[in-house]
Amino acid sequence: MANRLPVDSVTGPDGSQMWRLSPGGLVTALEPVMRGVDGAWIGWPGAANSDVEPFEYDGIKMEPVALSDLDVEYYYEGFSNDTLWPLYHDVISQPTYHREWWDAYREVNQRFADRAIAVAAPGATVWVHDYQLQLVPGMLREARPDLTIGFFNHIPFPAYGLFAQLPWRKQIVRGLLGADVIGFQRSADAGNFSRAVRRIFGFETKGTRIWVPEDTSQDEVAGSPPSRRGLPVRRVVARHFPISIDSASYARLAEDPAVIARSQQIRKDLGNPKTIMLGVDRLDYTKGIRHRLKAYGELLREGRIDVESTTLIQVASPSRERVDAYIALRDQIEGTVGRINGDYGTIGHSAVVYMHHGYPREEMVALYLASDVMLVTSLRDGMNLVAKEYVAVRADNDGILILSEFTGAADDLKQALLINPHDIDGVKDTMISAIEMSTAERRRRMRALRRRVLENDVAKWSAAFLDELQHNSTARSGVANG
Ligand code: G6P
Repeated sequence: MANRLPVDSVTGPDGSQMWRLSPGGLVTALEPVMRGVDGAWIGWPGAANSDVEPFEYDGIKMEPVALSDLDVEYYYEGFSNDTLWPLYHDVISQPTYHREWWDAYREVNQRFADRAIAVAAPGATVWVHDYQLQLVPGMLREARPDLTIGFFNHIPFPAYGLFAQLPWRKQIVRGLLGADVIGFQRSADAGNFSRAVRRIFGFETKGTRIWVPEDTSQDEVAGSPPSRRGLPVRRVVARHFPISIDSASYARLAEDPAVIARSQQIRKDLGNPKTIMLGVDRLDYTKGIRHRLKAYGELLREGRIDVESTTLIQVASPSRERVDAYIALRDQIEGTVGRINGDYGTIGHSAVVYMHHGYPREEMVALYLASDVMLVTSLRDGMNLVAKEYVAVRADNDGILILSEFTGAADDLKQALLINPHDIDGVKDTMISAIEMSTAERRRRMRALRRRVLENDVAKWSAAFLDELQHNSTARSGVANG
């Protein structure tokens, strides 16, 4: 279960409505897991008021949950993307707290939970995904104690000093604790969560384990933790499971002659510059696109790079376009791109080639293959799968990944050129060392990165999570006291 179904509604040339697999992080990660499993995907079809009956797409059963205009505004754009998203990304943008948004969040979470309650077979496993649905595990546990319940948080979980701002922090943590296993991207996220549990409820935690009273009326009782008072407790596991991509399918696409030809065409169309740098992001303030453009613009101004030999391609896919912070960000980015191109572009060469579109996977792989330096400069990012995609396709062992240390991916991809995106001089120097790096060093780094990404793919990620879930299921083992 996730906020979105993994398919988008598209209109065919004859005006008929069809479903198409959507591009994007979460979908890419889970689609291979779902195929062939006798289960259903519960999610929102992505448009307001779409009253769609359950259907099957490519072997996956879809259970659409409808959202009204007001649900979209309050639950999705409001509480999910203007309260939780900025709060969980270290308040890069100021979170907004509205009680009406919270009410809608609770209601919509209940709607998702009710669907699972209705369709899940006795003793089934329900895997709930991401920050939009944090109350669902608690709702499921209350109504269906027979279920095995997993939750995975795809985005960061903030330090308690920030999380404590949330007026509904208690309810959110209690909701998550309904799960048997709560997965995070980084061990730091899992640690932040356990600390929130201790600070808010005083429950006992040890390593990745948390002991939670079965009886929620015991939550507020002061004194030693319920587990120490001999009360019945459930064991919840909170630990990190770094997500990955379907590495082999990316690697295969990189061998497709049409994709290779397209990558060569891209270089040619840009006038065969010596260095192509690439940024690929949802247009989001967490991605550090402004920081990257600032560094790049300064290098041009200082004459350390020039438009004949270096080009930056920035793909910024449209995202959450009705949320104020995203509207403002788009203006800023497009203003900056316009200024840089106005100052440094020539008839034959743009300084920045900017595209505000999403592209199919084939085109993305062609772009990855065409570029010499990949820029991932997030200010905070749960994982960042673009970094892993870039690595997976570089079967030539070439290409350089510049990677923000504030991404989950940085925990894993140590052979990248790690940067602090706030340190503009550091970013500039790293861009120059990437341009000047010897072939031998490029290959050495990429080889090591590729080994990691090919070994740790999304199938391994989901298997690790589901395995932990089967081992730690209260429903399967009865009350886990210990
Ligand atoms: C991130 C979140 C996902 C979300 C995606 C796209 O990757 O972790 O839950 O689906 O962004 O955002 P959107 O608001 O368009 O669903």
